Amino acid sequence: MDLKKLFGYQGKTVVITGSASGMSKSATELLLELGAEVYAIDINPIDLPVKKAFQADLSKKEEIDKVIEELPKKIDALFLCHGIAYFPGKELLVQKVNFYSQKYMTEQLLERISDHGSVTYISSVGGFGWQQVYSQAVELINLPTWEDAMKWYEEHPELIQSAYVFAKQCLESYVTYKCMSKEFIDRKIRINAINPGDTTTGLTEDFNKSTSPNGDVKEGEEMISNIFLKSWNGYAAEPEDMGYPMVVIGSDICSYMSGQLIYIDFGLTSSWTSGALLQANQKTIEEISKEAND
Ligand SMILES: NC(=O)c1ccc[n+]([C@@H]2O[C@H](COP(=O)([O-])OP(=O)(O)OC[C@H]3O[C@@H](n4cnc5c(N)ncnc54)[C@H](O)[C@@H]3O)[C@@H](O)[C@H]2O)c1
Repeated sequence: MDLKKLFGYQGKTVVITGSASGMSKSATELLLELGAEVYAIDINPIDLPVKKAFQADLSKKEEIDKVIEELPKKIDALFLCHGIAYFPGKELLVQKVNFYSQKYMTEQLLERISDHGSVTYISSVGGFGWQQVYSQAVELINLPTWEDAMKWYEEHPELIQSAYVFAKQCLESYVTYKCMSKEFIDRKIRINAINPGDTTTGLTEDFNKSTSPNGDVKEGEEMISNIFLKSWNGYAAEPEDMGYPMVVIGSDICSYMSGQLIYIDFGLTSSWTSGALLQANQKTIEEISKEAND
C-alpha cells in the first residue's frame, strides 16, 4: 500500500498557522514529508522549507486580510493552530488569537476550500465543558463582522474573564455548530478540532507562569502537573503527539470524520466525564461491577 497516497496530501495545497513552533511545526514537517505544498503563517519566522512562509500577527484583522490576499485561490486543507497563554489584562487578545482570528480566517477562506476539503483546529482540554457557554458562543459566532464581535466582547466582560477557557470553548462550539451548516455540508467540507492535554512546547513556560498566582514558573508547573498529570502518574506529551494525529484528521484517511472534538490527553477528560456520571448516579465502579456480577 502506498502510504503517501493514502494520506492524499501529495501535490495538495495546505495552509497552516503557528508553524514556527510546537505542535504546528511538527504537523508542518509531516505535511512536507507527505508531499503537500504548504503555505505557513506565524508571527515569528518559520524555519521550514515550505512553499511560502508569511510573518503576520493574526490578532490583527488588517494583517490577516493582507495574508489572505496572497494565499492560493484553491486550498485543500486548512489547519488553524496559532495560540497563546493568558496573562492578566490580555482577555481580549486571547479571544482574538485563540478563537476569533480562526473563525474569521475560516470564513474568509471557505470559498477557496475544495469540495471534500478539511478545516482542522487545535483547541485544548481547557475548552472542556464548552456546552455550558454554547448559546453565548453561538451568539458570537453569528455576528457578521469582526467589528461586531469586538463590540460583543466589550459588552461581555464576564464571559471573557475566563480568557483562555472561553476562547477554546468558543472554538469547540464552532466545530459542533458549523459541521452540518449549509456552507460546510453542501460541499462536504470537514471540520474538526484536536483538544490536546499538557504538551511541552513553546507555550509551556507561559502556561506555567500564568497559572501561578505569583507568576512563579516552578509553582505553576506543579499546579499544572496536579491538574493534568498527577491523577494518572502521567507525563507531558511531545509536540508530535498532537501535530501528527492532527495531520491524519485533516487527511483523506479521515474522509468521513467531521464535527469531532478529539481529546488527545491519554484519557484524562474521559475519566472526568465518567467520574462525574458515576457521581451523578451515586454509584461507584465497584457497585456497578458488583451488580453486573450478581
Ligand atoms: N502546549 C500545551 O500544553 C497545549 C495544550 C492544549 C492546547 N494547546 C494549544 O496548542 C496550540 C499550539 O500551541 P503550542 O503548544 O504548540 O505552542 P507554541 O508556542 O509552540 O506554538 C504556537 C505558535 O503560535 C504562534 N502565534 C502566537 N500568537 C500568534 C499571532 N498573534 N499570530 C500568529 N502566530 C501566532 C506562535 O508564534 C507559535 O509559533 C495553541 O492553540 C495552544 O493553545 C497547547
